[in-house]
Amino acid sequence: MKELTLAPAQSPISGKLQIPGDKSISHRAIILGSLATGTTTVTDFLRSEDTRRTVEGFRQLGVKIEENDSLLKIYGNGPTTLNEPSNPIYFGNSGTTARLMLGVLAGLPIFTSVYGDPHLTQRPMDRVVGPLSEMGGKFDGRNNGNYLPLAVRGGNLKGIQYKLPVKSAQVKSAVLLGGLFAEGTTEVIEEIPSRNHTENMLRAFGADIADNDGHIRITNERALMATDVIVPGDISSAAFFMAAAAIVPESKLTLLRVGLNHSRTGIIDVLSEMGAQISITNQQTVGGETFGDITVAHRPLNGVVIEGEIIPRLIDEIPVLALVATQAKGNTVIRDAEELRLKETDRIAATVEELTSIGAKIEGTDDGMVIKGSSDLTGGQTKAYNDHRIAMMLAVASLIAKQNVVIDDVSSIDISYPNFFWDLRKIISNHSTFAT
Ligand code: S3P
Repeated sequence: MKELTLAPAQSPISGKLQIPGDKSISHRAIILGSLATGTTTVTDFLRSEDTRRTVEGFRQLGVKIEENDSLLKIYGNGPTTLNEPSNPIYFGNSGTTARLMLGVLAGLPIFTSVYGDPHLTQRPMDRVVGPLSEMGGKFDGRNNGNYLPLAVRGGNLKGIQYKLPVKSAQVKSAVLLGGLFAEGTTEVIEEIPSRNHTENMLRAFGADIADNDGHIRITNERALMATDVIVPGDISSAAFFMAAAAIVPESKLTLLRVGLNHSRTGIIDVLSEMGAQISITNQQTVGGETFGDITVAHRPLNGVVIEGEIIPRLIDEIPVLALVATQAKGNTVIRDAEELRLKETDRIAATVEELTSIGAKIEGTDDGMVIKGSSDLTGGQTKAYNDHRIAMMLAVASLIAKQNVVIDDVSSIDISYPNFFWDLRKIISNHSTFAT
C-alpha cells in the first residue's frame, strides 16, 4: 500500500511533457516480434508492470528479449521454435497480456497453464476462450474456462467467422492472433470499430490481413518478418494531463509525440466539443500509426452527451472525462459504456463512488453515468481500487479540490505510467505531493 496526500494546485499548469509509450502498442510489439523471424527493435517501448508480464511470458516460451531502458530487442525465430514452458505463465494484472496471449497459446501445439493476480482472476476470459475453443483450442478452468487460472492445450486451429458480441479490441486481437495459426481464413466482424493496433502491426510484419469495412480477414499463409517498431506516446496516459490542462484555469500544456490513431482519439473530440482549446502539430505516420504534439489550453467548458460509436475510441478515458464534466456548465451524460464495469475494477462504480466522496454530483447508470457540472470538489479520503486509471484520475482531481485529496494506494499506477507523479511535478511547480 502506498498512500498519498495531494494538495490543490496553487497556479496554472504549463510546459511540455514527453508521454511514455503506448501500452497497447508495446504489448503487440513484444507479441509480434516474438512470433516473427529476425530481430525486432522496439523504440520508446513502455516499461511498466503490465508490459513486463508480456515480456516475461514470451521469455518463458523461449524468446530472447533484451531490454535497455525503453529500447527492446526481440530475437525471433518463428513460432515453431517456441517451447512448452515448464512453469505456469503469470499475467499479473494485465487483461491485454491475458487475452492476447491466450490467442497465441491456443495456436501453439503445446500445453500451458496461466494465472493472474486476484483482480485479473475476477475478469471474464470466456470472451476469448469461446471463439478460440470454436477454432479448436482446448481450455479448462473454473466456470467452464471463464476465469483464470486456465490450462491451455493449443494447436490444430481452423479458421472461423466470428462476429464480435462485445466492443473489445482484446477479443478481436485474440481471434486474429489465433488466425495466424489456423487452417483457412479467420474473419472477425466488428460493427463498431475498436483500436486497430493489432491489424496495423500485423500488416507491418507482413501478415496476410485485410480489413473491408469491419470484416477483418487473416490467414496463416505469410510468416511474420521482424520489423522495427517506434511506439508513440500513449494517448490514454496523456489524457490525465489533457484533462488537467482543461480544468485548471489559465493552464496551457503540450504533450509531445502522442499516438493519434483515430480509434483512440475520442478524448480529443470530446474535450474540443466541451470547449477546451486543442491544437495538434508535428504530425507524422510510422508503421501505420500517426503521432503528433497535442496542446490543450483551459477555456470554460460545457456538458456533453458521450454515447454510441465514440465509446470504444475513449473507453479508458471515461473516468477522467467524468472528472472534467464536474467542472463543465450543465450536465454530461455517458451511455453505452457497460464494458467499463469489466475493467481493472468496475470503473462506473469506482468513478461515481470516489468523485461523490470528494464533493461531485454524479449518478451511475447501468451503462454509464450522469454528471452534474459546475461542482466544487471539496477533497478528502479516496480509494483507487488497485486501478491505475482511477488512481491517476483522483490525482488530477486533487489539482482543483479545495482541500487535500488522500488516495489510499497509488502503487497501481506502475501498471501503465511509472513516472506519473514525476511528470505531474514537472508541470506544476508548487504542487506538493507527499507520501504518508
Ligand atoms: C486494450 C483494449 C481495451 C482497453 C484496454 C487495452 C488493448 O480493452 O480498455 O486498456 O490493448 O487491446 P477491451 O478490448 O476489453 O475493450
